[in-house]
Amino acid sequence: MKNKFYITTPIYYANAKPHIGHAYTTIAADVLARFHKIQGDEVFFLTGMDEHGIKIQRAAETQGKKPQKFVDEIAGEFQSLWKKLDIKYDNFIRTTDKKHKEAVQKVLQTLYDKGAIYKGKYEGLYCVGCEQFKNENELVDGKCPDHDTTPEIIQEECYLMKMTSIQENLIKKIESDEFKIAPEKYKNEILSFLKTQVLKDVSISRKNLSWGILLPFNEEHTTYVWIDALLNYLTGIGWDGDLKNIPDQWPVNVNLIGKDILRVHATIWPAILMHLGIQLPEMLFTHGHILSGSKKMSKTLGNVISIDEMLEKFGADGTRYLLLASGPFGQDIDITMERMVEKYNADLANGLGNLTSRVIKLAQNCELRIADFESISNDEFSNIVNKLELSSALEYIWNIIKEDNKFIEDNKPWELQKNNQEKFQKVMQELISNLYLISELLIPFMPDTSEKIKIALETKKTEILFQRIK
Ligand code: MSP
Repeated sequence: MKNKFYITTPIYYANAKPHIGHAYTTIAADVLARFHKIQGDEVFFLTGMDEHGIKIQRAAETQGKKPQKFVDEIAGEFQSLWKKLDIKYDNFIRTTDKKHKEAVQKVLQTLYDKGAIYKGKYEGLYCVGCEQFKNENELVDGKCPDHDTTPEIIQEECYLMKMTSIQENLIKKIESDEFKIAPEKYKNEILSFLKTQVLKDVSISRKNLSWGILLPFNEEHTTYVWIDALLNYLTGIGWDGDLKNIPDQWPVNVNLIGKDILRVHATIWPAILMHLGIQLPEMLFTHGHILSGSKKMSKTLGNVISIDEMLEKFGADGTRYLLLASGPFGQDIDITMERMVEKYNADLANGLGNLTSRVIKLAQNCELRIADFESISNDEFSNIVNKLELSSALEYIWNIIKEDNKFIEDNKPWELQKNNQEKFQKVMQELISNLYLISELLIPFMPDTSEKIKIALETKKTEILFQRIK
């Protein structure tokens, strides 16, 4: 029987165009989905849009647009970027989809009937950027550190979801890795948070906000956007909200997220599932943030690196490579355009591009063909990818590239061709089979380049894979 592999990205807020951070997560998820497909797994890769809430309603108002029209346009921009980046998802969920909304209402009714939700009041400081209530101790100089804005004071009647009743059980599930939070440092961070404070019950509805899903048991309220959004991981595989109909793809194997949304995913998300009696995701994998010149990207600082500019300069595969190779997946990575151009020239134009064209030109003078090589499985490489050490996986491939370029320098096959045919064939056998291996290992990371190398190996014709950039 085939293994299943269900991977998700966060669903992105439809309040503005996609940026490099969204691309980073989505490329990583695409790489993992493609990798598992090659292993023969039954893969489901879900991404999509988070389209309700005050942040989006306000963004639409600012542009004088109806919220639905506004989110339709933004969703289109995301989809077109994913196409340009060669992202192959299985579903693009939008929280304004009718089916999603109906399922969310069903879930809320179930939670209400079970007594997990009750009517109360909430008073607190709300950061619209995060779409979350904040504790005083999370603020810096009274402002949200992620958005640099002063939260709004909200005091209203609402419905709340019980959190204390699940807390002990949640700690156990995280400690035992039944609900695995990776990398380890994030697991520790969440455990120490959960062990030092009693979780406050979470407000799951808003009274004065129209852009949201109506609560089925009180239509004066709309659903809190995070509850609505988290359920996408279930509705995105076709769940209708009925506990008897949990789809076969469940549970999620990897919920891929950025560190900015770890807390919600490690508390509210499992709480909903535990109240419902649904199995938790196998793993919540948290990656770091992309920084530009050691700072958070911001328009004010003028250090924003645009994903469109990257695509224009480096192409889809170049962009995929540079984002994932710039630093360990799981840690913050720091990029600058200057360093990426350097890396592009060194690793892609010189390293891989050069190797391919040298090997193919030399191959024109020997008998070996790609058909002489079998599909290769490589356990060492697979272990690295399975641990989501994506930059190490690329380093593994680039070590082969470097060694091969050196092997060519050392053996000078163009001389062997003239005076030692036997050794020439041997050297070429090694080079061609290594280039074939490289093309196989590259499939999930740089699908188009991998295909081009394979065609070059078959036809023995070379084209320039990566043009040097000045
Ligand atoms: N809508 C929520 C998520 C709901 S999931 C049920 C949200 N959306 S978001 O548009 O703000 O996207 C956040 C995600 O984008 C992060 O978790 C991360 O995956 C990615 N990134 C946003 N900025 C980033 C960087 N600067 N660097 C890397 N990734 C970051 O939060």
